Amino acid sequence: MWNFHKWFERHTLILLVGILVVVSIGGLVQITPLFFIESTIERVQGVRPYTPLELAGRQIYIREGCYTCHSQMVRPLRDEVERYGHYSLAAESMYDHPFQWGSKRTGPDLARVGGRYSDEWHRAHLVDPRSVVPESVMPPYAFLANAELNASLMTDHVRTNRMLNVPYTDEQLANAAIDARAQAEPMGEHAFDFQERYPTAAVRDFDGNPSQVTEMDALIAYLQMLGTGVDFSTYQAEAPENQR
Ligand code: HEC
Repeated sequence: MWNFHKWFERHTLILLVGILVVVSIGGLVQITPLFFIESTIERVQGVRPYTPLELAGRQIYIREGCYTCHSQMVRPLRDEVERYGHYSLAAESMYDHPFQWGSKRTGPDLARVGGRYSDEWHRAHLVDPRSVVPESVMPPYAFLANAELNASLMTDHVRTNRMLNVPYTDEQLANAAIDARAQAEPMGEHAFDFQERYPTAAVRDFDGNPSQVTEMDALIAYLQMLGTGVDFSTYQAEAPENQR
């Protein structure tokens, strides 16, 4: 036995082939089952595609590098669940392209930040974090409140997401640019149509400035819906196939 192993260790090429064989067996054991199960994502009620305004906010979140300090995934560990709420489900990020799970937490996890603060709080916090959290090291993003949202890009964003299998309807695609503004203009002429297309989305003037739809509107709309899709008071984890 040991002589056989000596033979392996003395011939680099043979050792290399041996390593490849062993590693491939391990890989196959892990990967092959994934091709035979119907889905790795458990379906849950309440998760919907982002509205164009939220999608724009998400884009700003990525552009500004918020993910370099914030994760968006509550791990199934007791301290995290007690601090942030129910651990994240795979289905909650099924429409995220790319997902924002991350592992860097200079600031807190944001997967369940939606609804935790008022729009006013977010506005004040983004304009000047130290005005609401004196010890904060988060940089200010006051310029977002003056940056007009470029809604014309949203048709392309929605179309791209649809190519990646996010189930937007033809009507949602055709109205993406209008809807991006309509969600932040509750008194506007398109607010009603928007609500018809996205019944569970919030229609509000997120940045408190009715004269303009800004990047601040988009970012707050996005933050306010994070982690709010699934109703965890009624949610029950599905039993795996073999335990039904
Ligand atoms: C340099 C790191 C850093 C960056 C970049 C950063 N943040 Fe933060 N963020 C923090 C820290 C630290 C806190 C905790 C203190 C506070 O509330 O300000 C925080 C807190 C927050 C909170 C409150 C979370 C809670 O549960 O209390 C939100 C919301 C937030 N950040 C959003 C953002 C957004 C949106 C961006 C990008 C536009 C961003 N952050 C960029 C560091 C950062």
